[in-house]
Amino acid sequence: MGIALSIAIPIIVVAAAIMLVAAARRRETMAAEGHLNRETRRRDRGRVAVDGEPVAGPTGREVERAAVVARQSAGTEVVEAVDASVEEWTPPHPEMVGVSRRQFLNRSTVAMMGFGLSGFGAACIAFLWPPFVTGFGADVNVGLVDDVKSRIKDENGFLYIPEGRAWVTEYPQAALQKAQNVYSAPELAGIESGLIALFQKCPHLGCRVPSCLTSQWFECPCHGSRYNQVGEKRGGPAPRGMDRFAMSVNSKGEFIIRTGTIIQGPPIGVNTTGQEPEGPSCLGGASH
Ligand code: FES
Repeated sequence: MGIALSIAIPIIVVAAAIMLVAAARRRETMAAEGHLNRETRRRDRGRVAVDGEPVAGPTGREVERAAVVARQSAGTEVVEAVDASVEEWTPPHPEMVGVSRRQFLNRSTVAMMGFGLSGFGAACIAFLWPPFVTGFGADVNVGLVDDVKSRIKDENGFLYIPEGRAWVTEYPQAALQKAQNVYSAPELAGIESGLIALFQKCPHLGCRVPSCLTSQWFECPCHGSRYNQVGEKRGGPAPRGMDRFAMSVNSKGEFIIRTGTIIQGPPIGVNTTGQEPEGPSCLGGASH
């Protein structure tokens, strides 16, 4: 019994291996060519022509194999070769990319610095620019010289110009030669036209000096200083004659008071016109 088993087992193993190999070959053949039944294979092997010669055409196995190859070829997708050359990379334009955080911060910093410098520059220019002023401190156009003289007569000898804080009176042409020996060119520019512009502020302590129509002088009510019609001191505590402005006559013949330039009045004792009071003083019992 033991000897029989030792002989049978190797035989069974070898037989099983042969059957497995045979089955594998059969599956491969069927997968490649399809299954032909035995009758078909026998008829293929026995084909002969009418005249008894073997048929020269393909066998059924060859036809089947060609069909398998054709099916496989039909199922294969043919892909055309594409141009595989690498295109050179070109960086995009910065404006197409947008603004990065770094660019935003840099541009903001530059913009703020620009605004700051612009404001500082504008402030400097505004500080250095000549001030545009009107009225007192600027040139005051009183009008044509002849018209001004007419207005002075209409006002009984004294024309007040409020925007210039100035009195305008006539300067007698008979005294012009003496004036040329006393007064400066900016004063003579007006005096030679027959007019003079006097600052209303008393050179003593600064009161506004009114005109006195009776005496035809200026008489200060504060401390009694008195000045003749062209502002030369004739009495009182004032240290000098009335201050006056630089004057000019433009190309149109207009009298201009340059109130930005105040010239100190003439010293005590200057009396170019020799005008005496033409009537009672406006200060009561004060005398000159
Ligand atoms: Fe005019 Fe003193 S302020 S005399």
